Amino acid sequence: MQLVRNFWQSQIGKKVVMAVTGLILVGFVVGHMVGNLQVFQSAAKLNAYGYFLKHTVGGALWAVRGVLLASVILHVVAAVQLTRQKQAARPSGQGYQKYEPQISTFASRTIRWGGFLLLAFIVFHILHFTTLTIYPDYSPTDVYNNVVKGFQIPWVTAFYVLAMGALALHLFHGAWSSLRTLGLSRPAARPTARPIVTALAGLVALGFAVVPLAVFFGAVQPAAPEQGIPAEALEASALQQSAGAPAGASTTAPTSTLAGH
Ligand code: HEM
Repeated sequence: MQLVRNFWQSQIGKKVVMAVTGLILVGFVVGHMVGNLQVFQSAAKLNAYGYFLKHTVGGALWAVRGVLLASVILHVVAAVQLTRQKQAARPSGQGYQKYEPQISTFASRTIRWGGFLLLAFIVFHILHFTTLTIYPDYSPTDVYNNVVKGFQIPWVTAFYVLAMGALALHLFHGAWSSLRTLGLSRPAARPTARPIVTALAGLVALGFAVVPLAVFFGAVQPAAPEQGIPAEALEASALQQSAGAPAGASTTAPTSTLAGH
C-alpha cells in the first residue's frame, strides 16, 4: 500500500496515471465517435445499436462505465495536483519568473481551460442524452430522434461544436504527452510536428462535430419514432411511463448505453 502511495505522491507517478487514464479515454471517444456515425446510416441502425448496448451488453456496461468514471476522476485530480506541485516549485521571493515550457503550443498552453470545458460538456452531455434530465420528453429508446431534436437547437449545436474544438486541442497535446510519458514516442527534431496525434485529434473532433452540424443544416432529418426498437421493449417502456416512471427509466436494467447508443 505504501508503494502505491509513494507512486501517487511522486510527480512521475501522477504523470503516468494521467497518461494511462488519458489513453483509456482516447479509446472511449474513438469508439463513441464511430458509434455516433451510424446516425448517417439509418434511425433503425442507430437505435438498434443503442438497444443492443443497453440490453445485451448489460452488466458489462456498468463495469466499463466504472472504469470511465474512475479514469476521469483520476485524470482530473492528477492534473490539478501536478499543477499545484509545479506552482509550488516556482522559486518564491526571487521576483516572479515567467515559466517557459520547453515545447509550447496553443494546445499545451490552453489544456487546463480546455479540460474544464470538456468536463462541463460531459456533465451537460450525460444530462442531455443519457439521463434525459434536460429534455424529459426525449424517448429512452429513440436515440436517433433525441439526437435530431437536440441539434435543431442553435445554442446546443454551437456548444457541442465548441466542445469538440476543445477536444481536438486536448487530444493533440494530451495524446502526445501521454505517449511521451509512457516512453511510447521518441523525442523528435521537430517536437511540434506530430502527424499521428494531429490526425487522431482532427478525425475524432470532426467525426463528432459532423453529427450536430449535419442535423442543424438539415442533412439528417427526423425519422418515424422508435425505429429499430423491439416491440416488446416499446410496450414495456410505454407501460412503465403509464405507471408514472420518468421517460429515461429503462425497461430492464441497466439504464444507459455508455455512449455507444
Ligand atoms: C457531437 C458529439 C457527440 C454526440 C452526438 C454524442 C451522442 C451521445 C448520445 C446520443 C448518447 C446517449 C446514448 C444512450 O444513452 O443511448 C451519448 C452518451 C454519452 N456520451 Fe456522447 N456524444 C458526443 C460526444 C461525446 C464526447 C466528446 C464525450 C466524451 C468526452 C462523450 C461522452 C459520453 C458519455 C460518457 C455518455 C454516457 C455513457 C453512459 O454512461 O451511458 N460524448 N452520447
